Amino acid sequence: KDPVLVAPSLLAANFLELGKEVEMINRSEADWFHLDVMDGRFVPNISYGLPVIAQISKLAKKPLDVHLMIEEPEKYAAEFKKAGANSLTVHMEACVHLHRNIQQIRGLGMKAGVALNPHTPVVTLENIIRDIDLVLVMSVNPGFGGQTFIEQTYHKIRQVKQLIAETGSSALIQVDGGVELSNAGQLVATGADVLVSGSAIFASPDPEKTIHLFKTSGQ
Ligand code: DX5
Ligand code: ZN
Repeated sequence: KDPVLVAPSLLAANFLELGKEVEMINRSEADWFHLDVMDGRFVPNISYGLPVIAQISKLAKKPLDVHLMIEEPEKYAAEFKKAGANSLTVHMEACVHLHRNIQQIRGLGMKAGVALNPHTPVVTLENIIRDIDLVLVMSVNPGFGGQTFIEQTYHKIRQVKQLIAETGSSALIQVDGGVELSNAGQLVATGADVLVSGSAIFASPDPEKTIHLFKTSGQ
């Protein structure tokens, strides 16, 4: 099995030292930058958006994985491509025309991901799984960092893994929310390909080392 990919979420970074945080991730064993965009509509919080991501993209030496927690993501896909996004993940619950949105994202030259809120059943992926690059399994309710991991997520990861195997999809399974060193090993063993982590990395005394420990979890 390939080593797990680690995607630090900059939501927990020190925004007054954003350049240093980006350089730390560049130096580290992290694989992607995970960037959480919130609109205060789809989720009850507002984070950061296009101008910040465009600045990060100038300094970042690794792919930008953008997680859109916004309504009507199709209105902004081209702008996020311009800002430097390499992959764009939209929420199942925010997309009336998900298949069209995925085609749009891929047509713009980005990888396409679909995120599922904790209550959204895996079966809703059945008719889109072959067309996407990433399934983001939310292990907390989206909107905030630092929340408690929902244990039901393990079962959901197994269901996604089974769907991928049945359909021959090449989508990666990404887990986001409450991911810590204490559950990373079990998540990898269950089938997670990509671990997103915000507070467990940035609130730790040595974030670069914590990234290394995530990277070697499950081995
Ligand atoms: C939550 C975001 C997550 C968040 C994770 O809505 O999608 O990416 O930053 O933060 P932690 O790792 O602190 O739960
Ligand atoms: Zn996220």
